[in-house]
Amino acid sequence: MAAVKFEDVAKSFGDVNVIRDFSIDIQDGEFIVLLGPSGCGKSTILRLLAGLEEVTDGVISVGDKVVNELEPKKRDIAMVFQSYALYPHMTVHDNIGFGLKLMGHKPAEITQKVQEAAIMLQLDQYLARKPKELSGGQRQRVAMGRAMVRNPEVFLFDEPLSNLDAALRSVMRTQIKALHRQFRKTTLYVTHDQIEAMTLADKVIILRDGKVEQIGSPRHVFLHPANKFVASFIGSPAMNQVRAKLSYQSGQAVITLGDTDIPLPTSIDLAKKEEGEIIVGIRPTDIHVHATSVTSGEPLPLPLRVTACDFLGASVHIEADFGDDRMIIESPAEFDTSEGDQVTFYFDSSRLHFFDVESGNSLLSQQT
Ligand SMILES: Nc1ncnc2c1ncn2[C@@H]1O[C@H](COP(=O)(O)OP(=O)(O)OP(=O)(O)O)[C@@H](O)[C@H]1O
Ligand SMILES: [Mg+2]
Repeated sequence: MAAVKFEDVAKSFGDVNVIRDFSIDIQDGEFIVLLGPSGCGKSTILRLLAGLEEVTDGVISVGDKVVNELEPKKRDIAMVFQSYALYPHMTVHDNIGFGLKLMGHKPAEITQKVQEAAIMLQLDQYLARKPKELSGGQRQRVAMGRAMVRNPEVFLFDEPLSNLDAALRSVMRTQIKALHRQFRKTTLYVTHDQIEAMTLADKVIILRDGKVEQIGSPRHVFLHPANKFVASFIGSPAMNQVRAKLSYQSGQAVITLGDTDIPLPTSIDLAKKEEGEIIVGIRPTDIHVHATSVTSGEPLPLPLRVTACDFLGASVHIEADFGDDRMIIESPAEFDTSEGDQVTFYFDSSRLHFFDVESGNSLLSQQT
């Protein structure tokens, strides 16, 4: 069993606090993706778990064992780095088997384990080659093979696919998912790629400046972002966020968006937020060019002036002015519009998100 637990973990380099109050409970076999801007502490969290850095405060456990003081090689954790870190002078076979050799395994046993991993990763015909004679994707698979043969309790991946082109990334993503389905090893995976995060993760952890902003399934964090930061970080193009006014008329919440008053259905609970300015969020895919495309509620008109159009093949990203704010609408490619057009778009209130201006936190109750 290899559940992984971080309890109030902190890490400082000198006076710089890189990780703060970091607590997570990862179940045995879960696939966790860490997402966040560059420098927010993702690699540091993996390195703390692998034992390559020491915690400044808090407790890390693997299974029921506290590993704070344990040397890296005693932690039963294997890490795949972005740079692959292969030994250039060794063959693929020796690169994959190197960890086993260090652990004192017999040559015949090493060769058998390397063979098994190589077949699984479709590397069996390359075992005699050196890393420089391999493509990027093949090198990446060697790095994965090296982690796999050790049969660790926990896998750590630090942006393993970021050096590959889009097509190969997608193949490798499918392969990583299949391997996880087969072996169900607890995995922590760092990526900048939203598609990787959404397709691989049981849960994503969104980090900012070393602190957790939200933890949840990909679906949950997309549909119910806990705050403005998560709302703009998850989803591409990012969620539109515009200023609006909240008031109450005979007890009913009313949002004034531009010149339009939108009475909110009672199913939307803003936790009795007082009247005043708030931020309203709406995803580019929840604004439609036809009223009939609004399927989840009553279509409300949204007149906008188009400022730019980006044709992407399957869709068009339309940029439009909304008062002092800007909105992006993702529309089907057939919709033909151009800069300067005045267009009435449609949306419905059930797809709106609401955030506090000061804290940035969601005003909807079910977001945590
Ligand atoms: N050994 C170190 N000494 C001082 N500061 C460090 C050290 N290692 C990391 N940092 C700092 O800690 C912060 C977090 O670094 P980390 O490598 O974990 O970020 P990251 O989220 O993995 O970023 P990226 O997406 O760019 O890889 C950064 O501000 C970095 O400069
Ligand atoms: Mg990193």
